[in-house]
Amino acid sequence: MNISSGHQGVRRILLLGADGQAGWELHRTLSPLGEVVAASLGGEFGPTVNLADSQGLRRLIEEVKPDALVNAAAYTSVDRAERERDLAFKVNAEAPGVMGEALCQRGIPIIHFSTDFVFDGAAKRPYREEDDPNPLNVYGETKLAGERALLDSGANAAVLRTSWLYGVRGQNFLLTMLHLFQERDELRVVDDQVGAPTWSRMLAEVTAVVLCRMLEGEGPHTSPRGIFHVTGGGETSWYGFARRILESSGLSCNLRPITSSEFPAPARRPGYSVLDNGKLRDALGLVLPEWRVSLTHCLADLCWAVRAGSSSRSPNG
Ligand SMILES: NC(=O)c1ccc[n+]([C@@H]2O[C@H](COP(=O)([O-])OP(=O)(O)OC[C@H]3O[C@@H](n4cnc5c(N)ncnc54)[C@H](OP(=O)(O)O)[C@@H]3O)[C@@H](O)[C@H]2O)c1
Repeated sequence: MNISSGHQGVRRILLLGADGQAGWELHRTLSPLGEVVAASLGGEFGPTVNLADSQGLRRLIEEVKPDALVNAAAYTSVDRAERERDLAFKVNAEAPGVMGEALCQRGIPIIHFSTDFVFDGAAKRPYREEDDPNPLNVYGETKLAGERALLDSGANAAVLRTSWLYGVRGQNFLLTMLHLFQERDELRVVDDQVGAPTWSRMLAEVTAVVLCRMLEGEGPHTSPRGIFHVTGGGETSWYGFARRILESSGLSCNLRPITSSEFPAPARRPGYSVLDNGKLRDALGLVLPEWRVSLTHCLADLCWAVRAGSSSRSPNG
């Protein structure tokens, strides 16, 4: 693939992390906005990119000469980050700064993703963008440092903080639960961590709208810039999320609520990490669906795919 030749008048969008959970949805959703150059660690859909290699990252941006950059690549292993601190920092903190520096002079829009784990969970109401972060784990520290490195670079950047991503592809809670419900009679799920499940497709759709506004914005007042919270509406615990998946799936399993202390993990997690989507609504008029509504839509997609898969294997066509 020749990544340095574009079509006249067609915008070129450099997507990093195209084979991740969000990246996979973004690859499809961003396509109507321009030519998507889909880069990933393994190079399955386009050029390879390793965010731990700043020189390679700079080189790729120079070669592609994008009209916009969307970064869905990240070090996302929350527990492993506790022992791979340096790598997690390179990928999540340094790389967004490199992207910002490479794009700031020409005001090229960049969208980057961050997390509810920048907060410590002590709040009694959904977190707003201006609330003070205080991450409890290394992953949260690296993501917070990445937000800052990008915004401090002076780039035309929007940072979309999201939470509890799930979808039809990738490693996520929905697919894990559906798998375990078929394997086990009983399952214990943490009930004292509260957040908002977010469908990766919905995140990709919001990203496309934000990118459109950034590309068409006439100046800093009309173009979205800075941090925005983008999550499913409402809130639940992991147990509540699991119960809803179970009820919607028609499968059976004995679900038991447990506390985080009964399920020890290397990284501490916030007990309450619901994000307030109000800024997105006020700035862009986007009202995000309640998490249960999105879950229903996502499950409908999954059922359809499973049914289509089994009927295509049927000898009767
Ligand atoms: N998942 C969640 O619940 C959640 C919650 C809040 C915020 N977020 C944020 O949302 C964004 C998207 O998350 P996601 O769930 O789509 O993550 P994901 O499925 O883990 O995808 C991340 C992608 O980045 C790639 N990657 C890892 N290290 C890399 C490196 N050194 N260079 C280039 N690519 C690298 C991964 O490749 P490999 O798979 O080959 O390693 C993967 O394709 C991230 O910024 C994440 O921090 C996610």
